[in-house]
Amino acid sequence: MVMGGIFLLLAFLVSAAVFVHGQPGFISIDCGIAEGLNYTDNQTQIEYTSDNGFIDTGINQEISSVYTLKSTQRLYQNLRSFPEGIRNCYTLKPVVKGNKYLIRASFMYGNYDGTNKLPVFDVYLGANLWQIMKFPHAHKRIRIEIMVVAYMDIFSVCLINRGWGAPFISVLELRPLNNSLYTTVNESQSLLLYNRFNPGAPNDRDVRYPDDPYDRIWKQWVGPWTPFSTPSIIEIENDFGFEPPTMVMSTAVSPLSANDNLNFSFPMNDTDSGLQFYVYMHFAELQLLDSNQLREFTLSLNGAFLDGPFSPMYQVARTLSSPSPLTGKDNYTIALYKTTNSTLPPILNAFEIHSVKQHLESATNRQDFDSIMNIKATYRVKRNWMGDPCLPKAYSWDGLNCSYDSSYPPTITSLNLSSSGLSGEIAPSLGNLTSIVSLDLSRNNLTGAVPDFLANLSSLTFLNLRSNQFTGSIPSVLLERSHNGLLTLSFGENLELCSSDSCKKKHRHFNIPVIIGVSVVAVLVSFTMMIVCHKFRGRRQGEPAFNASEEDSLFFSRNRRFTYTEIMHMTNNFQRVIGRGGFGTVYHGHMEDGTQVAIKLFSQIHHGTNVFQTEAQLLMRFHHKNLVHFLGYCAEGNNKALILEYIVGGNLANLLSAKGDDTIVLNWDQRLRIAMDVAQGISFPTI
Ligand SMILES: *[C@@H]1O[C@H](CO)[C@@H](O)[C@H](O)[C@H]1NC(C)=O
Ligand SMILES: *[C@@H]1O[C@H](CO)[C@@H](O)[C@H](O)[C@H]1NC(C)=O
Ligand SMILES: *[C@@H]1O[C@H](CO)[C@@H](O)[C@H](O)[C@H]1NC(C)=O
Ligand SMILES: *[C@@H]1O[C@H](CO)[C@@H](O)[C@H](O)[C@H]1NC(C)=O
Ligand SMILES: *[C@@H]1O[C@H](CO)[C@@H](O)[C@H](O)[C@H]1NC(C)=O
Repeated sequence: MVMGGIFLLLAFLVSAAVFVHGQPGFISIDCGIAEGLNYTDNQTQIEYTSDNGFIDTGINQEISSVYTLKSTQRLYQNLRSFPEGIRNCYTLKPVVKGNKYLIRASFMYGNYDGTNKLPVFDVYLGANLWQIMKFPHAHKRIRIEIMVVAYMDIFSVCLINRGWGAPFISVLELRPLNNSLYTTVNESQSLLLYNRFNPGAPNDRDVRYPDDPYDRIWKQWVGPWTPFSTPSIIEIENDFGFEPPTMVMSTAVSPLSANDNLNFSFPMNDTDSGLQFYVYMHFAELQLLDSNQLREFTLSLNGAFLDGPFSPMYQVARTLSSPSPLTGKDNYTIALYKTTNSTLPPILNAFEIHSVKQHLESATNRQDFDSIMNIKATYRVKRNWMGDPCLPKAYSWDGLNCSYDSSYPPTITSLNLSSSGLSGEIAPSLGNLTSIVSLDLSRNNLTGAVPDFLANLSSLTFLNLRSNQFTGSIPSVLLERSHNGLLTLSFGENLELCSSDSCKKKHRHFNIPVIIGVSVVAVLVSFTMMIVCHKFRGRRQGEPAFNASEEDSLFFSRNRRFTYTEIMHMTNNFQRVIGRGGFGTVYHGHMEDGTQVAIKLFSQIHHGTNVFQTEAQLLMRFHHKNLVHFLGYCAEGNNKALILEYIVGGNLANLLSAKGDDTIVLNWDQRLRIAMDVAQGISFPTI
């Protein structure tokens, strides 16, 4: 016992110490105040902070001075409005998954934008609609509150623009609750506050933190009854299911006349009659009764027996509620009747009315949710990436698609982060998106190796890694799947990336002296190259001739080598000719990753080997944006071919002479530019 007492005392001291530095686990945001500002509210001693860290979007606003004068409460003087974007979300964290929380959002329009137009917008908690916000007038303060179990380690509170004015918010608060409280709140349903009253309160000051450690707000309740209180505040033994605070329980009301009933009604709006309600009534006897006194009453709902007879216990809080939720009526009247033996009238210390919110849409599959949150954090993705990624369906994140099967939470099936300014390595979390079918990471600055775990994504049929800075080789499993037609794989324009294990060595990137179009390879540039060759040959004199026996050394070893069969396959049996030149024919083809290429096949009668060798040697020495890229070669007996970058737009020679199928006629400026670009390509010096 003594040990227990000491332990309790210690626990008390520790919690008291925590209380000194703000409120444990509370998140209190005064939306719209200057970034980085925080202050202590002089009524509650709660410390409020600015929005930063919780949201990136929106703008800070001040309500009109007309209303500033009316409302002395600092919390409502600023707000954050969201003129941009359909959905803007606050991310509340830290939150412990599976724990119970109270979340409260408060709004006062206050004509902050000077238009005097009251907006209508939706507020979502995660994937579920929380409340449709409507305002009767500019200085109406509306508070909405929900008690909910955390499904994730964050909560997202999203404001949705429905086209009726920019959404805004004044205050956002999160309070941890004991998990033993409000057992009707669980993973599949929440409670939305309808009203929470403190009958018998001596004044209109709300009771909340610190009198209520959970910062529930208990409002005064006025009506035709007698306030009833103890001369001094007494300690009430808690009802652990609800823990109504002592401050609230130590006041009560009783009927004006000792023999009357204590009635209270709550009318429903039309839209509310379909809702399910829970009414929690909290009782505690405040008077030490004589032995000949008895306070005993029964409860009825709309005239039908509900519960009782019941006698409140002295200084002990007890809660009564309807055994099942109330629903389907326009009006509910609860009456407390004195029993025949009772010498004292009924009393009521506190009551709460909540409506039940079923979670129809839970959330995106938990693993996918966590992964995409990680990816978002890793790459600092901007865009509309807020709230739940897949839900509600109408507001899913840009650049991703989800599968919606009513019997399972949605999963992410495609992710497009093309041109998103990503840098660093491929995030390991991508490997946890197990339902993904299509992944586009092209046109970023991603570095490092293409990780093996991508091969574990068994549903993946499209993978685009093009235009990054990956190094190493593509995992063979991916290549195999690509060869078997199970995966569309693109990885071009990665300077240091190889497509097979044999090319693990770092290799250089070679360009070829050719110009803007494929035509160049075929016509114009055959000529061009002759000139360049000529210029160049002088300098290379004295070097050993480049011959077939050396093919395995020098640059050939470092470039992609293809077999003649592969060339046939790539060009679909030399089906499409895109140019003809002095030394061969240029065909259209495809690499295994789908990249289009131009393949120059050297004609054998032109002692192809020499020309091929010369041209190939040249290729390694030119780097210029106007010159097409060299991608690989084939040297198998007399079959020699170079694989070059394919450039769309057709044959330049035809284009210049307006001979092509299409009747594009280039104007003088374009022709001049082409001439300049060609000249730059030709005159570009060697490495
Ligand atoms: C809180 O501060 C405001 C302004 O600083 C003041 O007008 C108000 O009376 C204070 N309220 C309390 C309860 O002290
Ligand atoms: C009233 O009190 C009497 C005597 O204590 C008891 O016999 C009777 O059952 C009580 N009536 C009710 C309705 O409880
Ligand atoms: C990804 O988005 C870009 C535009 O941002 C688009 O060009 C590309 O086709 C998309 N990728 C896929 C696989 O849909
Ligand atoms: C990629 O990174 C380089 C160097 O850090 C930078 O100069 C370049 O602008 C980046 N490119 C993109 C598309 O982000
Ligand atoms: C992948 O998911 C598992 C299980 O959900 C988790 O334990 C692991 O940490 C995740 N890995 C990454 C890199 O996110």
